[in-house]
Amino acid sequence: MEILDKENLPGHVAIIMDGNGRWAKHRGLPRVVGHRSGMESVREIVKLCAELKIKVLTLYAFSTENWKRPQEEVDALMNLLVEYLHREIEELVQNDVQIRHIGRATELPAPALEAMTVATERTCKNKGLVLNLALNYGGRTEIVDAMREIAVKVKEGELTVSSIDEGTIDKYLYTAGLPDPDLLIRTSGDCRISNFLLWQLAYTEFWLTPVMWPDFRRRHLLTALIEFQQRERRYGEIKG
Ligand code: FPP
Repeated sequence: MEILDKENLPGHVAIIMDGNGRWAKHRGLPRVVGHRSGMESVREIVKLCAELKIKVLTLYAFSTENWKRPQEEVDALMNLLVEYLHREIEELVQNDVQIRHIGRATELPAPALEAMTVATERTCKNKGLVLNLALNYGGRTEIVDAMREIAVKVKEGELTVSSIDEGTIDKYLYTAGLPDPDLLIRTSGDCRISNFLLWQLAYTEFWLTPVMWPDFRRRHLLTALIEFQQRERRYGEIKG
């Protein structure tokens, strides 16, 4: 069996944490129990990424489409996020984790917005893992927001149309300043992007697993990382 080369880890890992609902359904439990168990997977995976000194971990916690779920489930997800941030903040600080948010912050319920604001402010000087929480996040909304900002800059004369290039767009996305993901993991067997990081995933390696998110453990991430290290990334070129 291959072993993990700690010198050759992906700089940015992004995860679509899917399958909480099905995990609960298989056990005859309410969906929110699946989300709560998924929170334990989040704890374990964040810790491992910090230990391995991975630079950025982006977790898809709540999409712009997730508002269409029953109010009870939306409330449970927001409460879990607040609970996670309250419960983990000391350890995250100790582990030098920097918390960031991507998504439309202003539309979040007040307690979730407050918990995110406090956590991002408390950890903003940390130099270890960047834990990027995608909350009320949609890839298309992100591109719309970037286009609006760029249009304003053009209107105000701070940008010219001909100077706009890929780098300009990078700068106006929620992920400004972060590298694009090297590895995207999606759990629970589905094979789609679901409006996640549409611009940033252009050259990302995908790793899909049938494992449901609440069952996703250190060993699964280690397997994904080892398999990532065996991929040849060509970026449209011809190699070897
Ligand atoms: C997808 O499963 C998962 C979500 C929409 C939410 C993910 C949230 C957590 C893991 C909880 C805590 C998060 C943090 C960051 C502390 P699904 O409900 O769509 O599953 P299904 O496809 O089986 O129905």
